[in-house]
Amino acid sequence: MKFDVLTLFPEMFEPIKQSIIGKAVERELIDINLINIRDFSKDKHKKVDDTPYGGGAGMVMRADVVYDAYKSINSEDAKVIYLTPQGNVLNQKKVENLSKEKHLILLCGHYEGIDQRVIDKIVDEEISIGDYVLTGGEIPAMVLIDSVSRYIDGVLSEGSTSEESFSHGILEYPQYTRPEIFEDMKVPEILLSGHHQNISKWREEQALQNTKLKRPDLLNRQ
Ligand code: ADE
Repeated sequence: MKFDVLTLFPEMFEPIKQSIIGKAVERELIDINLINIRDFSKDKHKKVDDTPYGGGAGMVMRADVVYDAYKSINSEDAKVIYLTPQGNVLNQKKVENLSKEKHLILLCGHYEGIDQRVIDKIVDEEISIGDYVLTGGEIPAMVLIDSVSRYIDGVLSEGSTSEESFSHGILEYPQYTRPEIFEDMKVPEILLSGHHQNISKWREEQALQNTKLKRPDLLNRQ
């Protein structure tokens, strides 16, 4: 999977060079390529934005600069995603579907937004990471890269995505490890029984109970 990220702040992407995603890049399971939109400004001061036509607060990213940055990528077979609070809200199903793509181009907006004409010209889908407004699309792009990369073969150990929260539309069962007794709290007896069938059944019940308690809306959705 290749991610090309169009951004004014490539330095913001340091966090996804760590841990599991960093290792996946090292092992060439995924490729994350950061493109600085500012490098495509023809202005001597490297300006990328301007005041909005019609007036109003803030600045708007220029269509021509964003388009030149986009054209620097070989976009054949790529799906172009614009991160915006106006987009379809990301969920696990969408993450899984996106992981089947070969090449994603992620466009990160800043300031008051991006000139609508370049959005109309290049964007295939608008995605939001939730109903709140952030200062830019960089954190949402990292959320998307992290969540999608987990589905790429070899990034996680076998089975890690099949039993986790949301994979069956409900939350996960609780997990326990050593010590057997912590602050007078004992690990549920059944987990020490070695009876795999009973353990599976108990975990299923716990997952359902957990979902009823914390996210009953997920059960009503099915
Ligand atoms: N840009 C600003 N806020 C955002 C959000 N909630 N989701 C995606 N992109 C954004």
